[in-house]
Amino acid sequence: MAITLAFDVYGTLIDTHGVVSELNGMVQDKAEAFSHKWREKQLEYSFRRGLMQNYVTFDVCTKHALDYVCEFFNTPLSVSQKQHMLDFYKTLPAFMDAKESLSAFSQRGYRLFAFSNGTSRAVESLLESAGIKAYFTDIISVDDIKSFKPNPAVYSHFLRKSKAHGGQSWLVSSNPFDVIGAISSGMNAAWVKRSGGIIFDPWGIEPTLTVEDLRDLTEQLPKHVNTR
Ligand code: 2OP
Repeated sequence: MAITLAFDVYGTLIDTHGVVSELNGMVQDKAEAFSHKWREKQLEYSFRRGLMQNYVTFDVCTKHALDYVCEFFNTPLSVSQKQHMLDFYKTLPAFMDAKESLSAFSQRGYRLFAFSNGTSRAVESLLESAGIKAYFTDIISVDDIKSFKPNPAVYSHFLRKSKAHGGQSWLVSSNPFDVIGAISSGMNAAWVKRSGGIIFDPWGIEPTLTVEDLRDLTEQLPKHVNTR
């Protein structure tokens, strides 16, 4: 069977810090820090929702995180500015290397899935607006089981729904917590270390493969798969 690739969406294919340019006019010199804190809080809310078994969609985590971050930086945004940012979040850009890499994998016969904390609907319109939706066989969302990464149930759900076997499947993610979650659930995982400063959590669970970006993955993954 062909190798199955489960691409994480936010932060791996889609640049969540694409919000910085929009924030510049609203929070002045705090845009970079605001963007990082917003993303951090969004993920924290998803982890806590998962643990508490008190599910809301990822869009709601994003909205609540935005409210928190406005308070945190003492940068009140108006209702319409907040709505503008949440609408903008639905059309975030893809990273520069996404399109050519997805195209290369697809031409080589890999099975490509988008696998995300976002709802299928949100991810579908995001990928559509970024011009990369056509490369995917399907979108698999945690929303189907009302939990979030890195709940092991989410990775099992991915394998069941994609009809893939763990040993033949690779999560591709820039998020260390996602990589550790997938490996703990019997998948392979490629960590896309997009910047030198990011530290992989020292839990004794290592990525199957570490790459600099998705272009690097198109070179490294086939070698790795063929030598196993
Ligand atoms: C995603 O699931 C974790 O935000 C990341 O798309």
